[in-house]
Amino acid sequence: MWSIYAGIPIFLGLGAVAVPVSSDTPKDSWEFGNSLFYLGPPSGSAEIIKATYSILAPAVPSGYVSSDDDPVWVSIWVGASASESDNNVDLYQPLFNWSPDQEAQGCPASTEEWCVAASTYTPDSQIGQSYIIVPANTTLDFEIAVEDENVIQTVTMAGKVISKQSDALDYPLQYLLSSDECYTGSGSCGSIDEWYIRNLTVTLSEADSSFSSVFELDGVTAADLTTSDSGTTWHTEWIKITSIDFENSSDLDE
Ligand SMILES: *[C@@H]1O[C@H](CO)[C@@H](O)[C@H](O)[C@H]1NC(C)=O
Ligand SMILES: *[C@@H]1O[C@H](CO)[C@@H](O)[C@H](O)[C@H]1NC(C)=O
Ligand SMILES: *[C@@H]1O[C@H](CO)[C@@H](O)[C@H](O)[C@H]1NC(C)=O
Repeated sequence: MWSIYAGIPIFLGLGAVAVPVSSDTPKDSWEFGNSLFYLGPPSGSAEIIKATYSILAPAVPSGYVSSDDDPVWVSIWVGASASESDNNVDLYQPLFNWSPDQEAQGCPASTEEWCVAASTYTPDSQIGQSYIIVPANTTLDFEIAVEDENVIQTVTMAGKVISKQSDALDYPLQYLLSSDECYTGSGSCGSIDEWYIRNLTVTLSEADSSFSSVFELDGVTAADLTTSDSGTTWHTEWIKITSIDFENSSDLDE
């Protein structure tokens, strides 16, 4: 089944632990919304070498329950990895993060705003940049690019780079995937509205004319994934992640 790629809070350094999902919210566990996409793997020896996309984050979660000593947090992200399910490989995942206790997350935002950072899950730890405030109604542009055996994540706001990170590529990138992720603390994450991944362009190291056949939509809708150069560059205008109620087990990925 699907992995447990946890956007571990950078300043808490908790380990990623796979916890079964149940209908009553378990304490200190990670939950994943069941609205997500996977794109990959390309056929033959093709690899993903670049992805660009834009995200306007939804309103911050509502209806959450959180305690001061063990606050919840929610992350939404698109990431790239050699695997769609193996938590022994890196996941390059620039992420939006929110918590009722933003300070505990190292995020300088108010509780009405998200923070964003370039960030990488590795089997040892989460390696991320300092969180940057995302003002409400602000679309961010993202790039994940492989250059000289490094993966470079770039987050841009209004034309200005606000977060950037370079990590050594562990294995060639085979998948792009998304998630709505909740750390329950001793509470629950409530609900998160729908959001869109827009203007997604994926570049492969060599042409794969059948790449659109490995675009898997799990509880999401999307515009067609098309190529204008016989399979090297692929584009979709939008992918719609539906709203998730983290307290409703039928909204969770199991
Ligand atoms: C965000 O934009 C929408 C639509 O343009 C608008 O209705 C809403 O008031 C805006 N919210 C904020 C916080 O600016
Ligand atoms: C879509 O992304 C491309 C980069 O891949 C960029 O050049 C273009 O400006 C973007 N379009 C919009 C409408 O943002
Ligand atoms: C839980 O989610 C399912 C599927 O989205 C929905 O049909 C059901 O009404 C929800 N239950 C509650 C209590 O909201």
